[in-house]
Amino acid sequence: MCSIPTFEMLEMDIGRAAHTVTKALDYVGIDDKSHGRRVGLICHRLAHQLGWDQDRRHFILICGMLHDCGVSSTLTHQKLVNEMEWEGADQHCERGEFFLKGFPPFSQYAQSIRYHHTRWENLPKELNGQTKEYANLVFFADRLDVAQAIYTATHGRDELLIHKEDILNELEPYVGTLFAPAFFKAAQKASQRDSFWIELRDEYLDDAIFETLDFADHKMKLSFDKVEALGEMLSMIVDAKSPFTHYHSLRVADLAYVIAGYCGMHEQDRKILRVAGLLHDVGKLRTPDEILEKPKKLSPLEMSRMRCHPMDSKRVLKAIFPNTPIAKWASEHHEKLDGSGYPYGWTENEIDLPTRVLTIADIFQALSQKRPYRERLSVDEVLDIMNKIAQDGQIDSQIYHLVVENKEELYNVSICEGVQGY
Ligand SMILES: [Fe+2]
Ligand SMILES: [Fe+2]
Ligand SMILES: [Fe+2]
Repeated sequence: MCSIPTFEMLEMDIGRAAHTVTKALDYVGIDDKSHGRRVGLICHRLAHQLGWDQDRRHFILICGMLHDCGVSSTLTHQKLVNEMEWEGADQHCERGEFFLKGFPPFSQYAQSIRYHHTRWENLPKELNGQTKEYANLVFFADRLDVAQAIYTATHGRDELLIHKEDILNELEPYVGTLFAPAFFKAAQKASQRDSFWIELRDEYLDDAIFETLDFADHKMKLSFDKVEALGEMLSMIVDAKSPFTHYHSLRVADLAYVIAGYCGMHEQDRKILRVAGLLHDVGKLRTPDEILEKPKKLSPLEMSRMRCHPMDSKRVLKAIFPNTPIAKWASEHHEKLDGSGYPYGWTENEIDLPTRVLTIADIFQALSQKRPYRERLSVDEVLDIMNKIAQDGQIDSQIYHLVVENKEELYNVSICEGVQGY
């Protein structure tokens, strides 16, 4: 059994929190997995060229990293990277603003992100000058990154250094309309340095971001309550990926918390398990929408893609919550006591109590929620199915019996819409 962390061990600074959230969000790009972080770094380098002070550079770095937090759909992501201006772009800006407002340390970035696809010439007059600059610099950096990513994919990354100007030339027709002229001029200067482009490569990107974050003195610690709020914000982003997973993570988290109480788990462990519940499916950000929403049985190939999501969750959660069991508990939610689960195929002795609770919470919630291939099941239908799974020796039968004893309360928790707050 893992050691249980103290609340202090879950503290992090705001820059690191933003970086980690971005790493999770970048999963939506599937194979192009660094867009958010690249945009953050480009923003920062251009801000430096523009002579912005350290506070503003730090602000725009975080803004740039978080800019696509309203995108959890892989299809939306594809639209955004393939089209210079896309009619549906505003939706993810509004969603991003909404998510960021829900997590106080990030709410300061919400308004700039709301307008990060608005033309420079169309930015609302009532916005203050700095917000206009933040929003439009993110827009410019975003389009610059898309242009360089397409160029790199077609010509190779070494070619990019020879033809730097070609990338900027693609954006030149939009200067003064989509983008502030000053940003284009700053990019012309900053992009002459090879480092501007080399830093964007995966192997250098995080080093460059961390050097920048460390240099900026913004070590704002997050208490456990804020870490929990961060988990809730991220869970809403994950659940927004598909109408069928609306509130799934939040409800799994609440169910796990309540069931853990029936099992006699300590309050602190229950709260940490709740965070694992909130983020157990964060790896699904990388699962293409068409697989998650397929109304029929998945093909073996689609299934193998789906079965990667616990490992993807683990990777993100280890980065967000190092030295805690959150990544372990979250990433083992598809393990079964008889060894038939995935991805590890653990058996009874290897699966601890919190993981067993989380697995049961996940199954209970998924069965009581509408899915693309079936309607929501009643509580007795849910329990019928779970009873078979328990009898097959796949889930813990003692926990299952506690679920049966408290079926009405748990069903109400599971089907509740909105944030209930445990
Ligand atoms: Fe973007
Ligand atoms: Fe899952
Ligand atoms: Fe799940």
